[in-house]
Amino acid sequence: MALTTLQIVGLALSLILVVFYFMRRAQEGGFPLPPGPPRHPLIGNFFNFPMSNQQETFTLWSQLFGDVVYSNVLGNHFVTINTAEAVEDILTKKAGNSSNRPNMVMAMELVGMGWATLFKQPGAEHREERKLLHTGLSPAGLKVWANMVDSQANKYVRSLIKGCDRDLATEEQVFPDCLDLRSAHVLIFIHSYGEGVFENHGPELLQMNKEGILIFSKTLANFWLVDLIPLLKYVPDWFPGAGFKRYAAKCNRLEQILQTRPFELTQKLHNEGKAGYSMTAQLLEQGADQKRIAIAVATAFQAGYEATYVSVTVFILAMLLYPDVQTKALEEIDNLTHGERIPTVGDRPNLPYIDAICKEIKRWHTIGPLGVPHVTAEEDSYKGMRIPKGSIIQVNVRLIHHDPRNYTDPYVFRPERFLPERPEDMPLDPSLVAFGFGRRMCPGRFLADMTTYSAIVNILTAYTIKPAPGKLVPSGLDYIDGTVSIPKQYDCLLEPRSDKRLQLFKED
Ligand code: HEM
Repeated sequence: MALTTLQIVGLALSLILVVFYFMRRAQEGGFPLPPGPPRHPLIGNFFNFPMSNQQETFTLWSQLFGDVVYSNVLGNHFVTINTAEAVEDILTKKAGNSSNRPNMVMAMELVGMGWATLFKQPGAEHREERKLLHTGLSPAGLKVWANMVDSQANKYVRSLIKGCDRDLATEEQVFPDCLDLRSAHVLIFIHSYGEGVFENHGPELLQMNKEGILIFSKTLANFWLVDLIPLLKYVPDWFPGAGFKRYAAKCNRLEQILQTRPFELTQKLHNEGKAGYSMTAQLLEQGADQKRIAIAVATAFQAGYEATYVSVTVFILAMLLYPDVQTKALEEIDNLTHGERIPTVGDRPNLPYIDAICKEIKRWHTIGPLGVPHVTAEEDSYKGMRIPKGSIIQVNVRLIHHDPRNYTDPYVFRPERFLPERPEDMPLDPSLVAFGFGRRMCPGRFLADMTTYSAIVNILTAYTIKPAPGKLVPSGLDYIDGTVSIPKQYDCLLEPRSDKRLQLFKED
């Protein structure tokens, strides 16, 4: 039977399409994409991709589609990772391919946060800034800071004692008011810029930094259309729907000040010999590039500021909700010190239960529910699934921290899980996902951990944490989610354990 011209053209076209399909599959390594929510042609998941509360939606998707989930919005690939195993394979073992950052037009260009080490693409500047941060934040670099961490935690409890004297005269000592802007915040400040700078410019720089963090959290917690359609950045500010541009313009000025002002103030006092010891002073003395110092330290100051404070608030809440844990922690400290001294950073190996509490704090309340997104530089594959080049990778850290496959009774605060009888029963170390991945892993993790430990042993030397009289104990861990997740306010009583113990702080 002879074919008509139309049939021949149709057959040829079909053949071309089949060849094209197989060529593309060959280019793509022949693997299918990971499963994910159904997509529309061209626009993909535009209508069902979460613009806010992303962690909740990603958790739902994990139940429907599995450990690695794919979605696509207007051609942008998104891969969500829900297991530690996939994290290890995609982000740790192949860190060279998966340590880029997305081009976040809103955060980096419009809001103006692009200067920060956190947002830089891997390359000479990022490498140099991380090297500088390593000087002041690695375990070796931190040795010189152990005494300072101890003495800041002592000062912190002393400030609580003063607060108690004042508040107890009238009402109970209520948390968290008494903690605000002390402890972790001051410690990060002094570590970054020095005690002299804190004395001269503390309130101004702390306030500025706090505003910067609010901007950071709000900007990263939301999903901005301009990140998907970069041309939208040219829309005039007055244009209907251009509210994002007006918001960005308001933030941009502060972001530029945050980049330079703390360094300039520190440099001036350093030249006058009045700044005190700090990471900035250390790097200036080593002759490092000043712009790189300013940026690296300003990033650390911002990145470390809120996260450490949150750890302390989570600890106090856990003690309130789990008094048995507190009893064991108090016993462990008392067995070591007999109430005669305050434990130091050096005592940590002899306080395994406190160490387990530090781990459990990170797991129970995930400070960064989705971490910070990474991007793949080249195409990759995982367990027979294709991860396209340029995929934005987000890790559902909170889900991994509460996955019953990793931790039994995941919503219970139970430090004992990190003290198993047999080493092989040790569950996943929450730090392996809490602090990020590969070449972007948080350089401040050792300082964060040291500060949290030190705050815990100092507080428990002086106080027992109890429910505030007449106030309801919170029913559980409740938080306000952003890039940094912050526990909601609650009340509690810090009851002095004895005069003798308070005296230890007064004598320091
Ligand atoms: C509990 C406390 C902390 C947590 C949970 C935390 C978590 C994180 C996470 C998830 C990232 C992103 C990692 C990635 O992209 O994979 C990060 C980055 C970073 N953190 Fe932390 N952090 C904490 C404390 C600190 C402290 C105390 C400092 C400094 C003093 C610090 C400095 C930084 C810096 C400079 C980066 C940017 C790294 C880069 O992009 O190369 N962090 N942190």
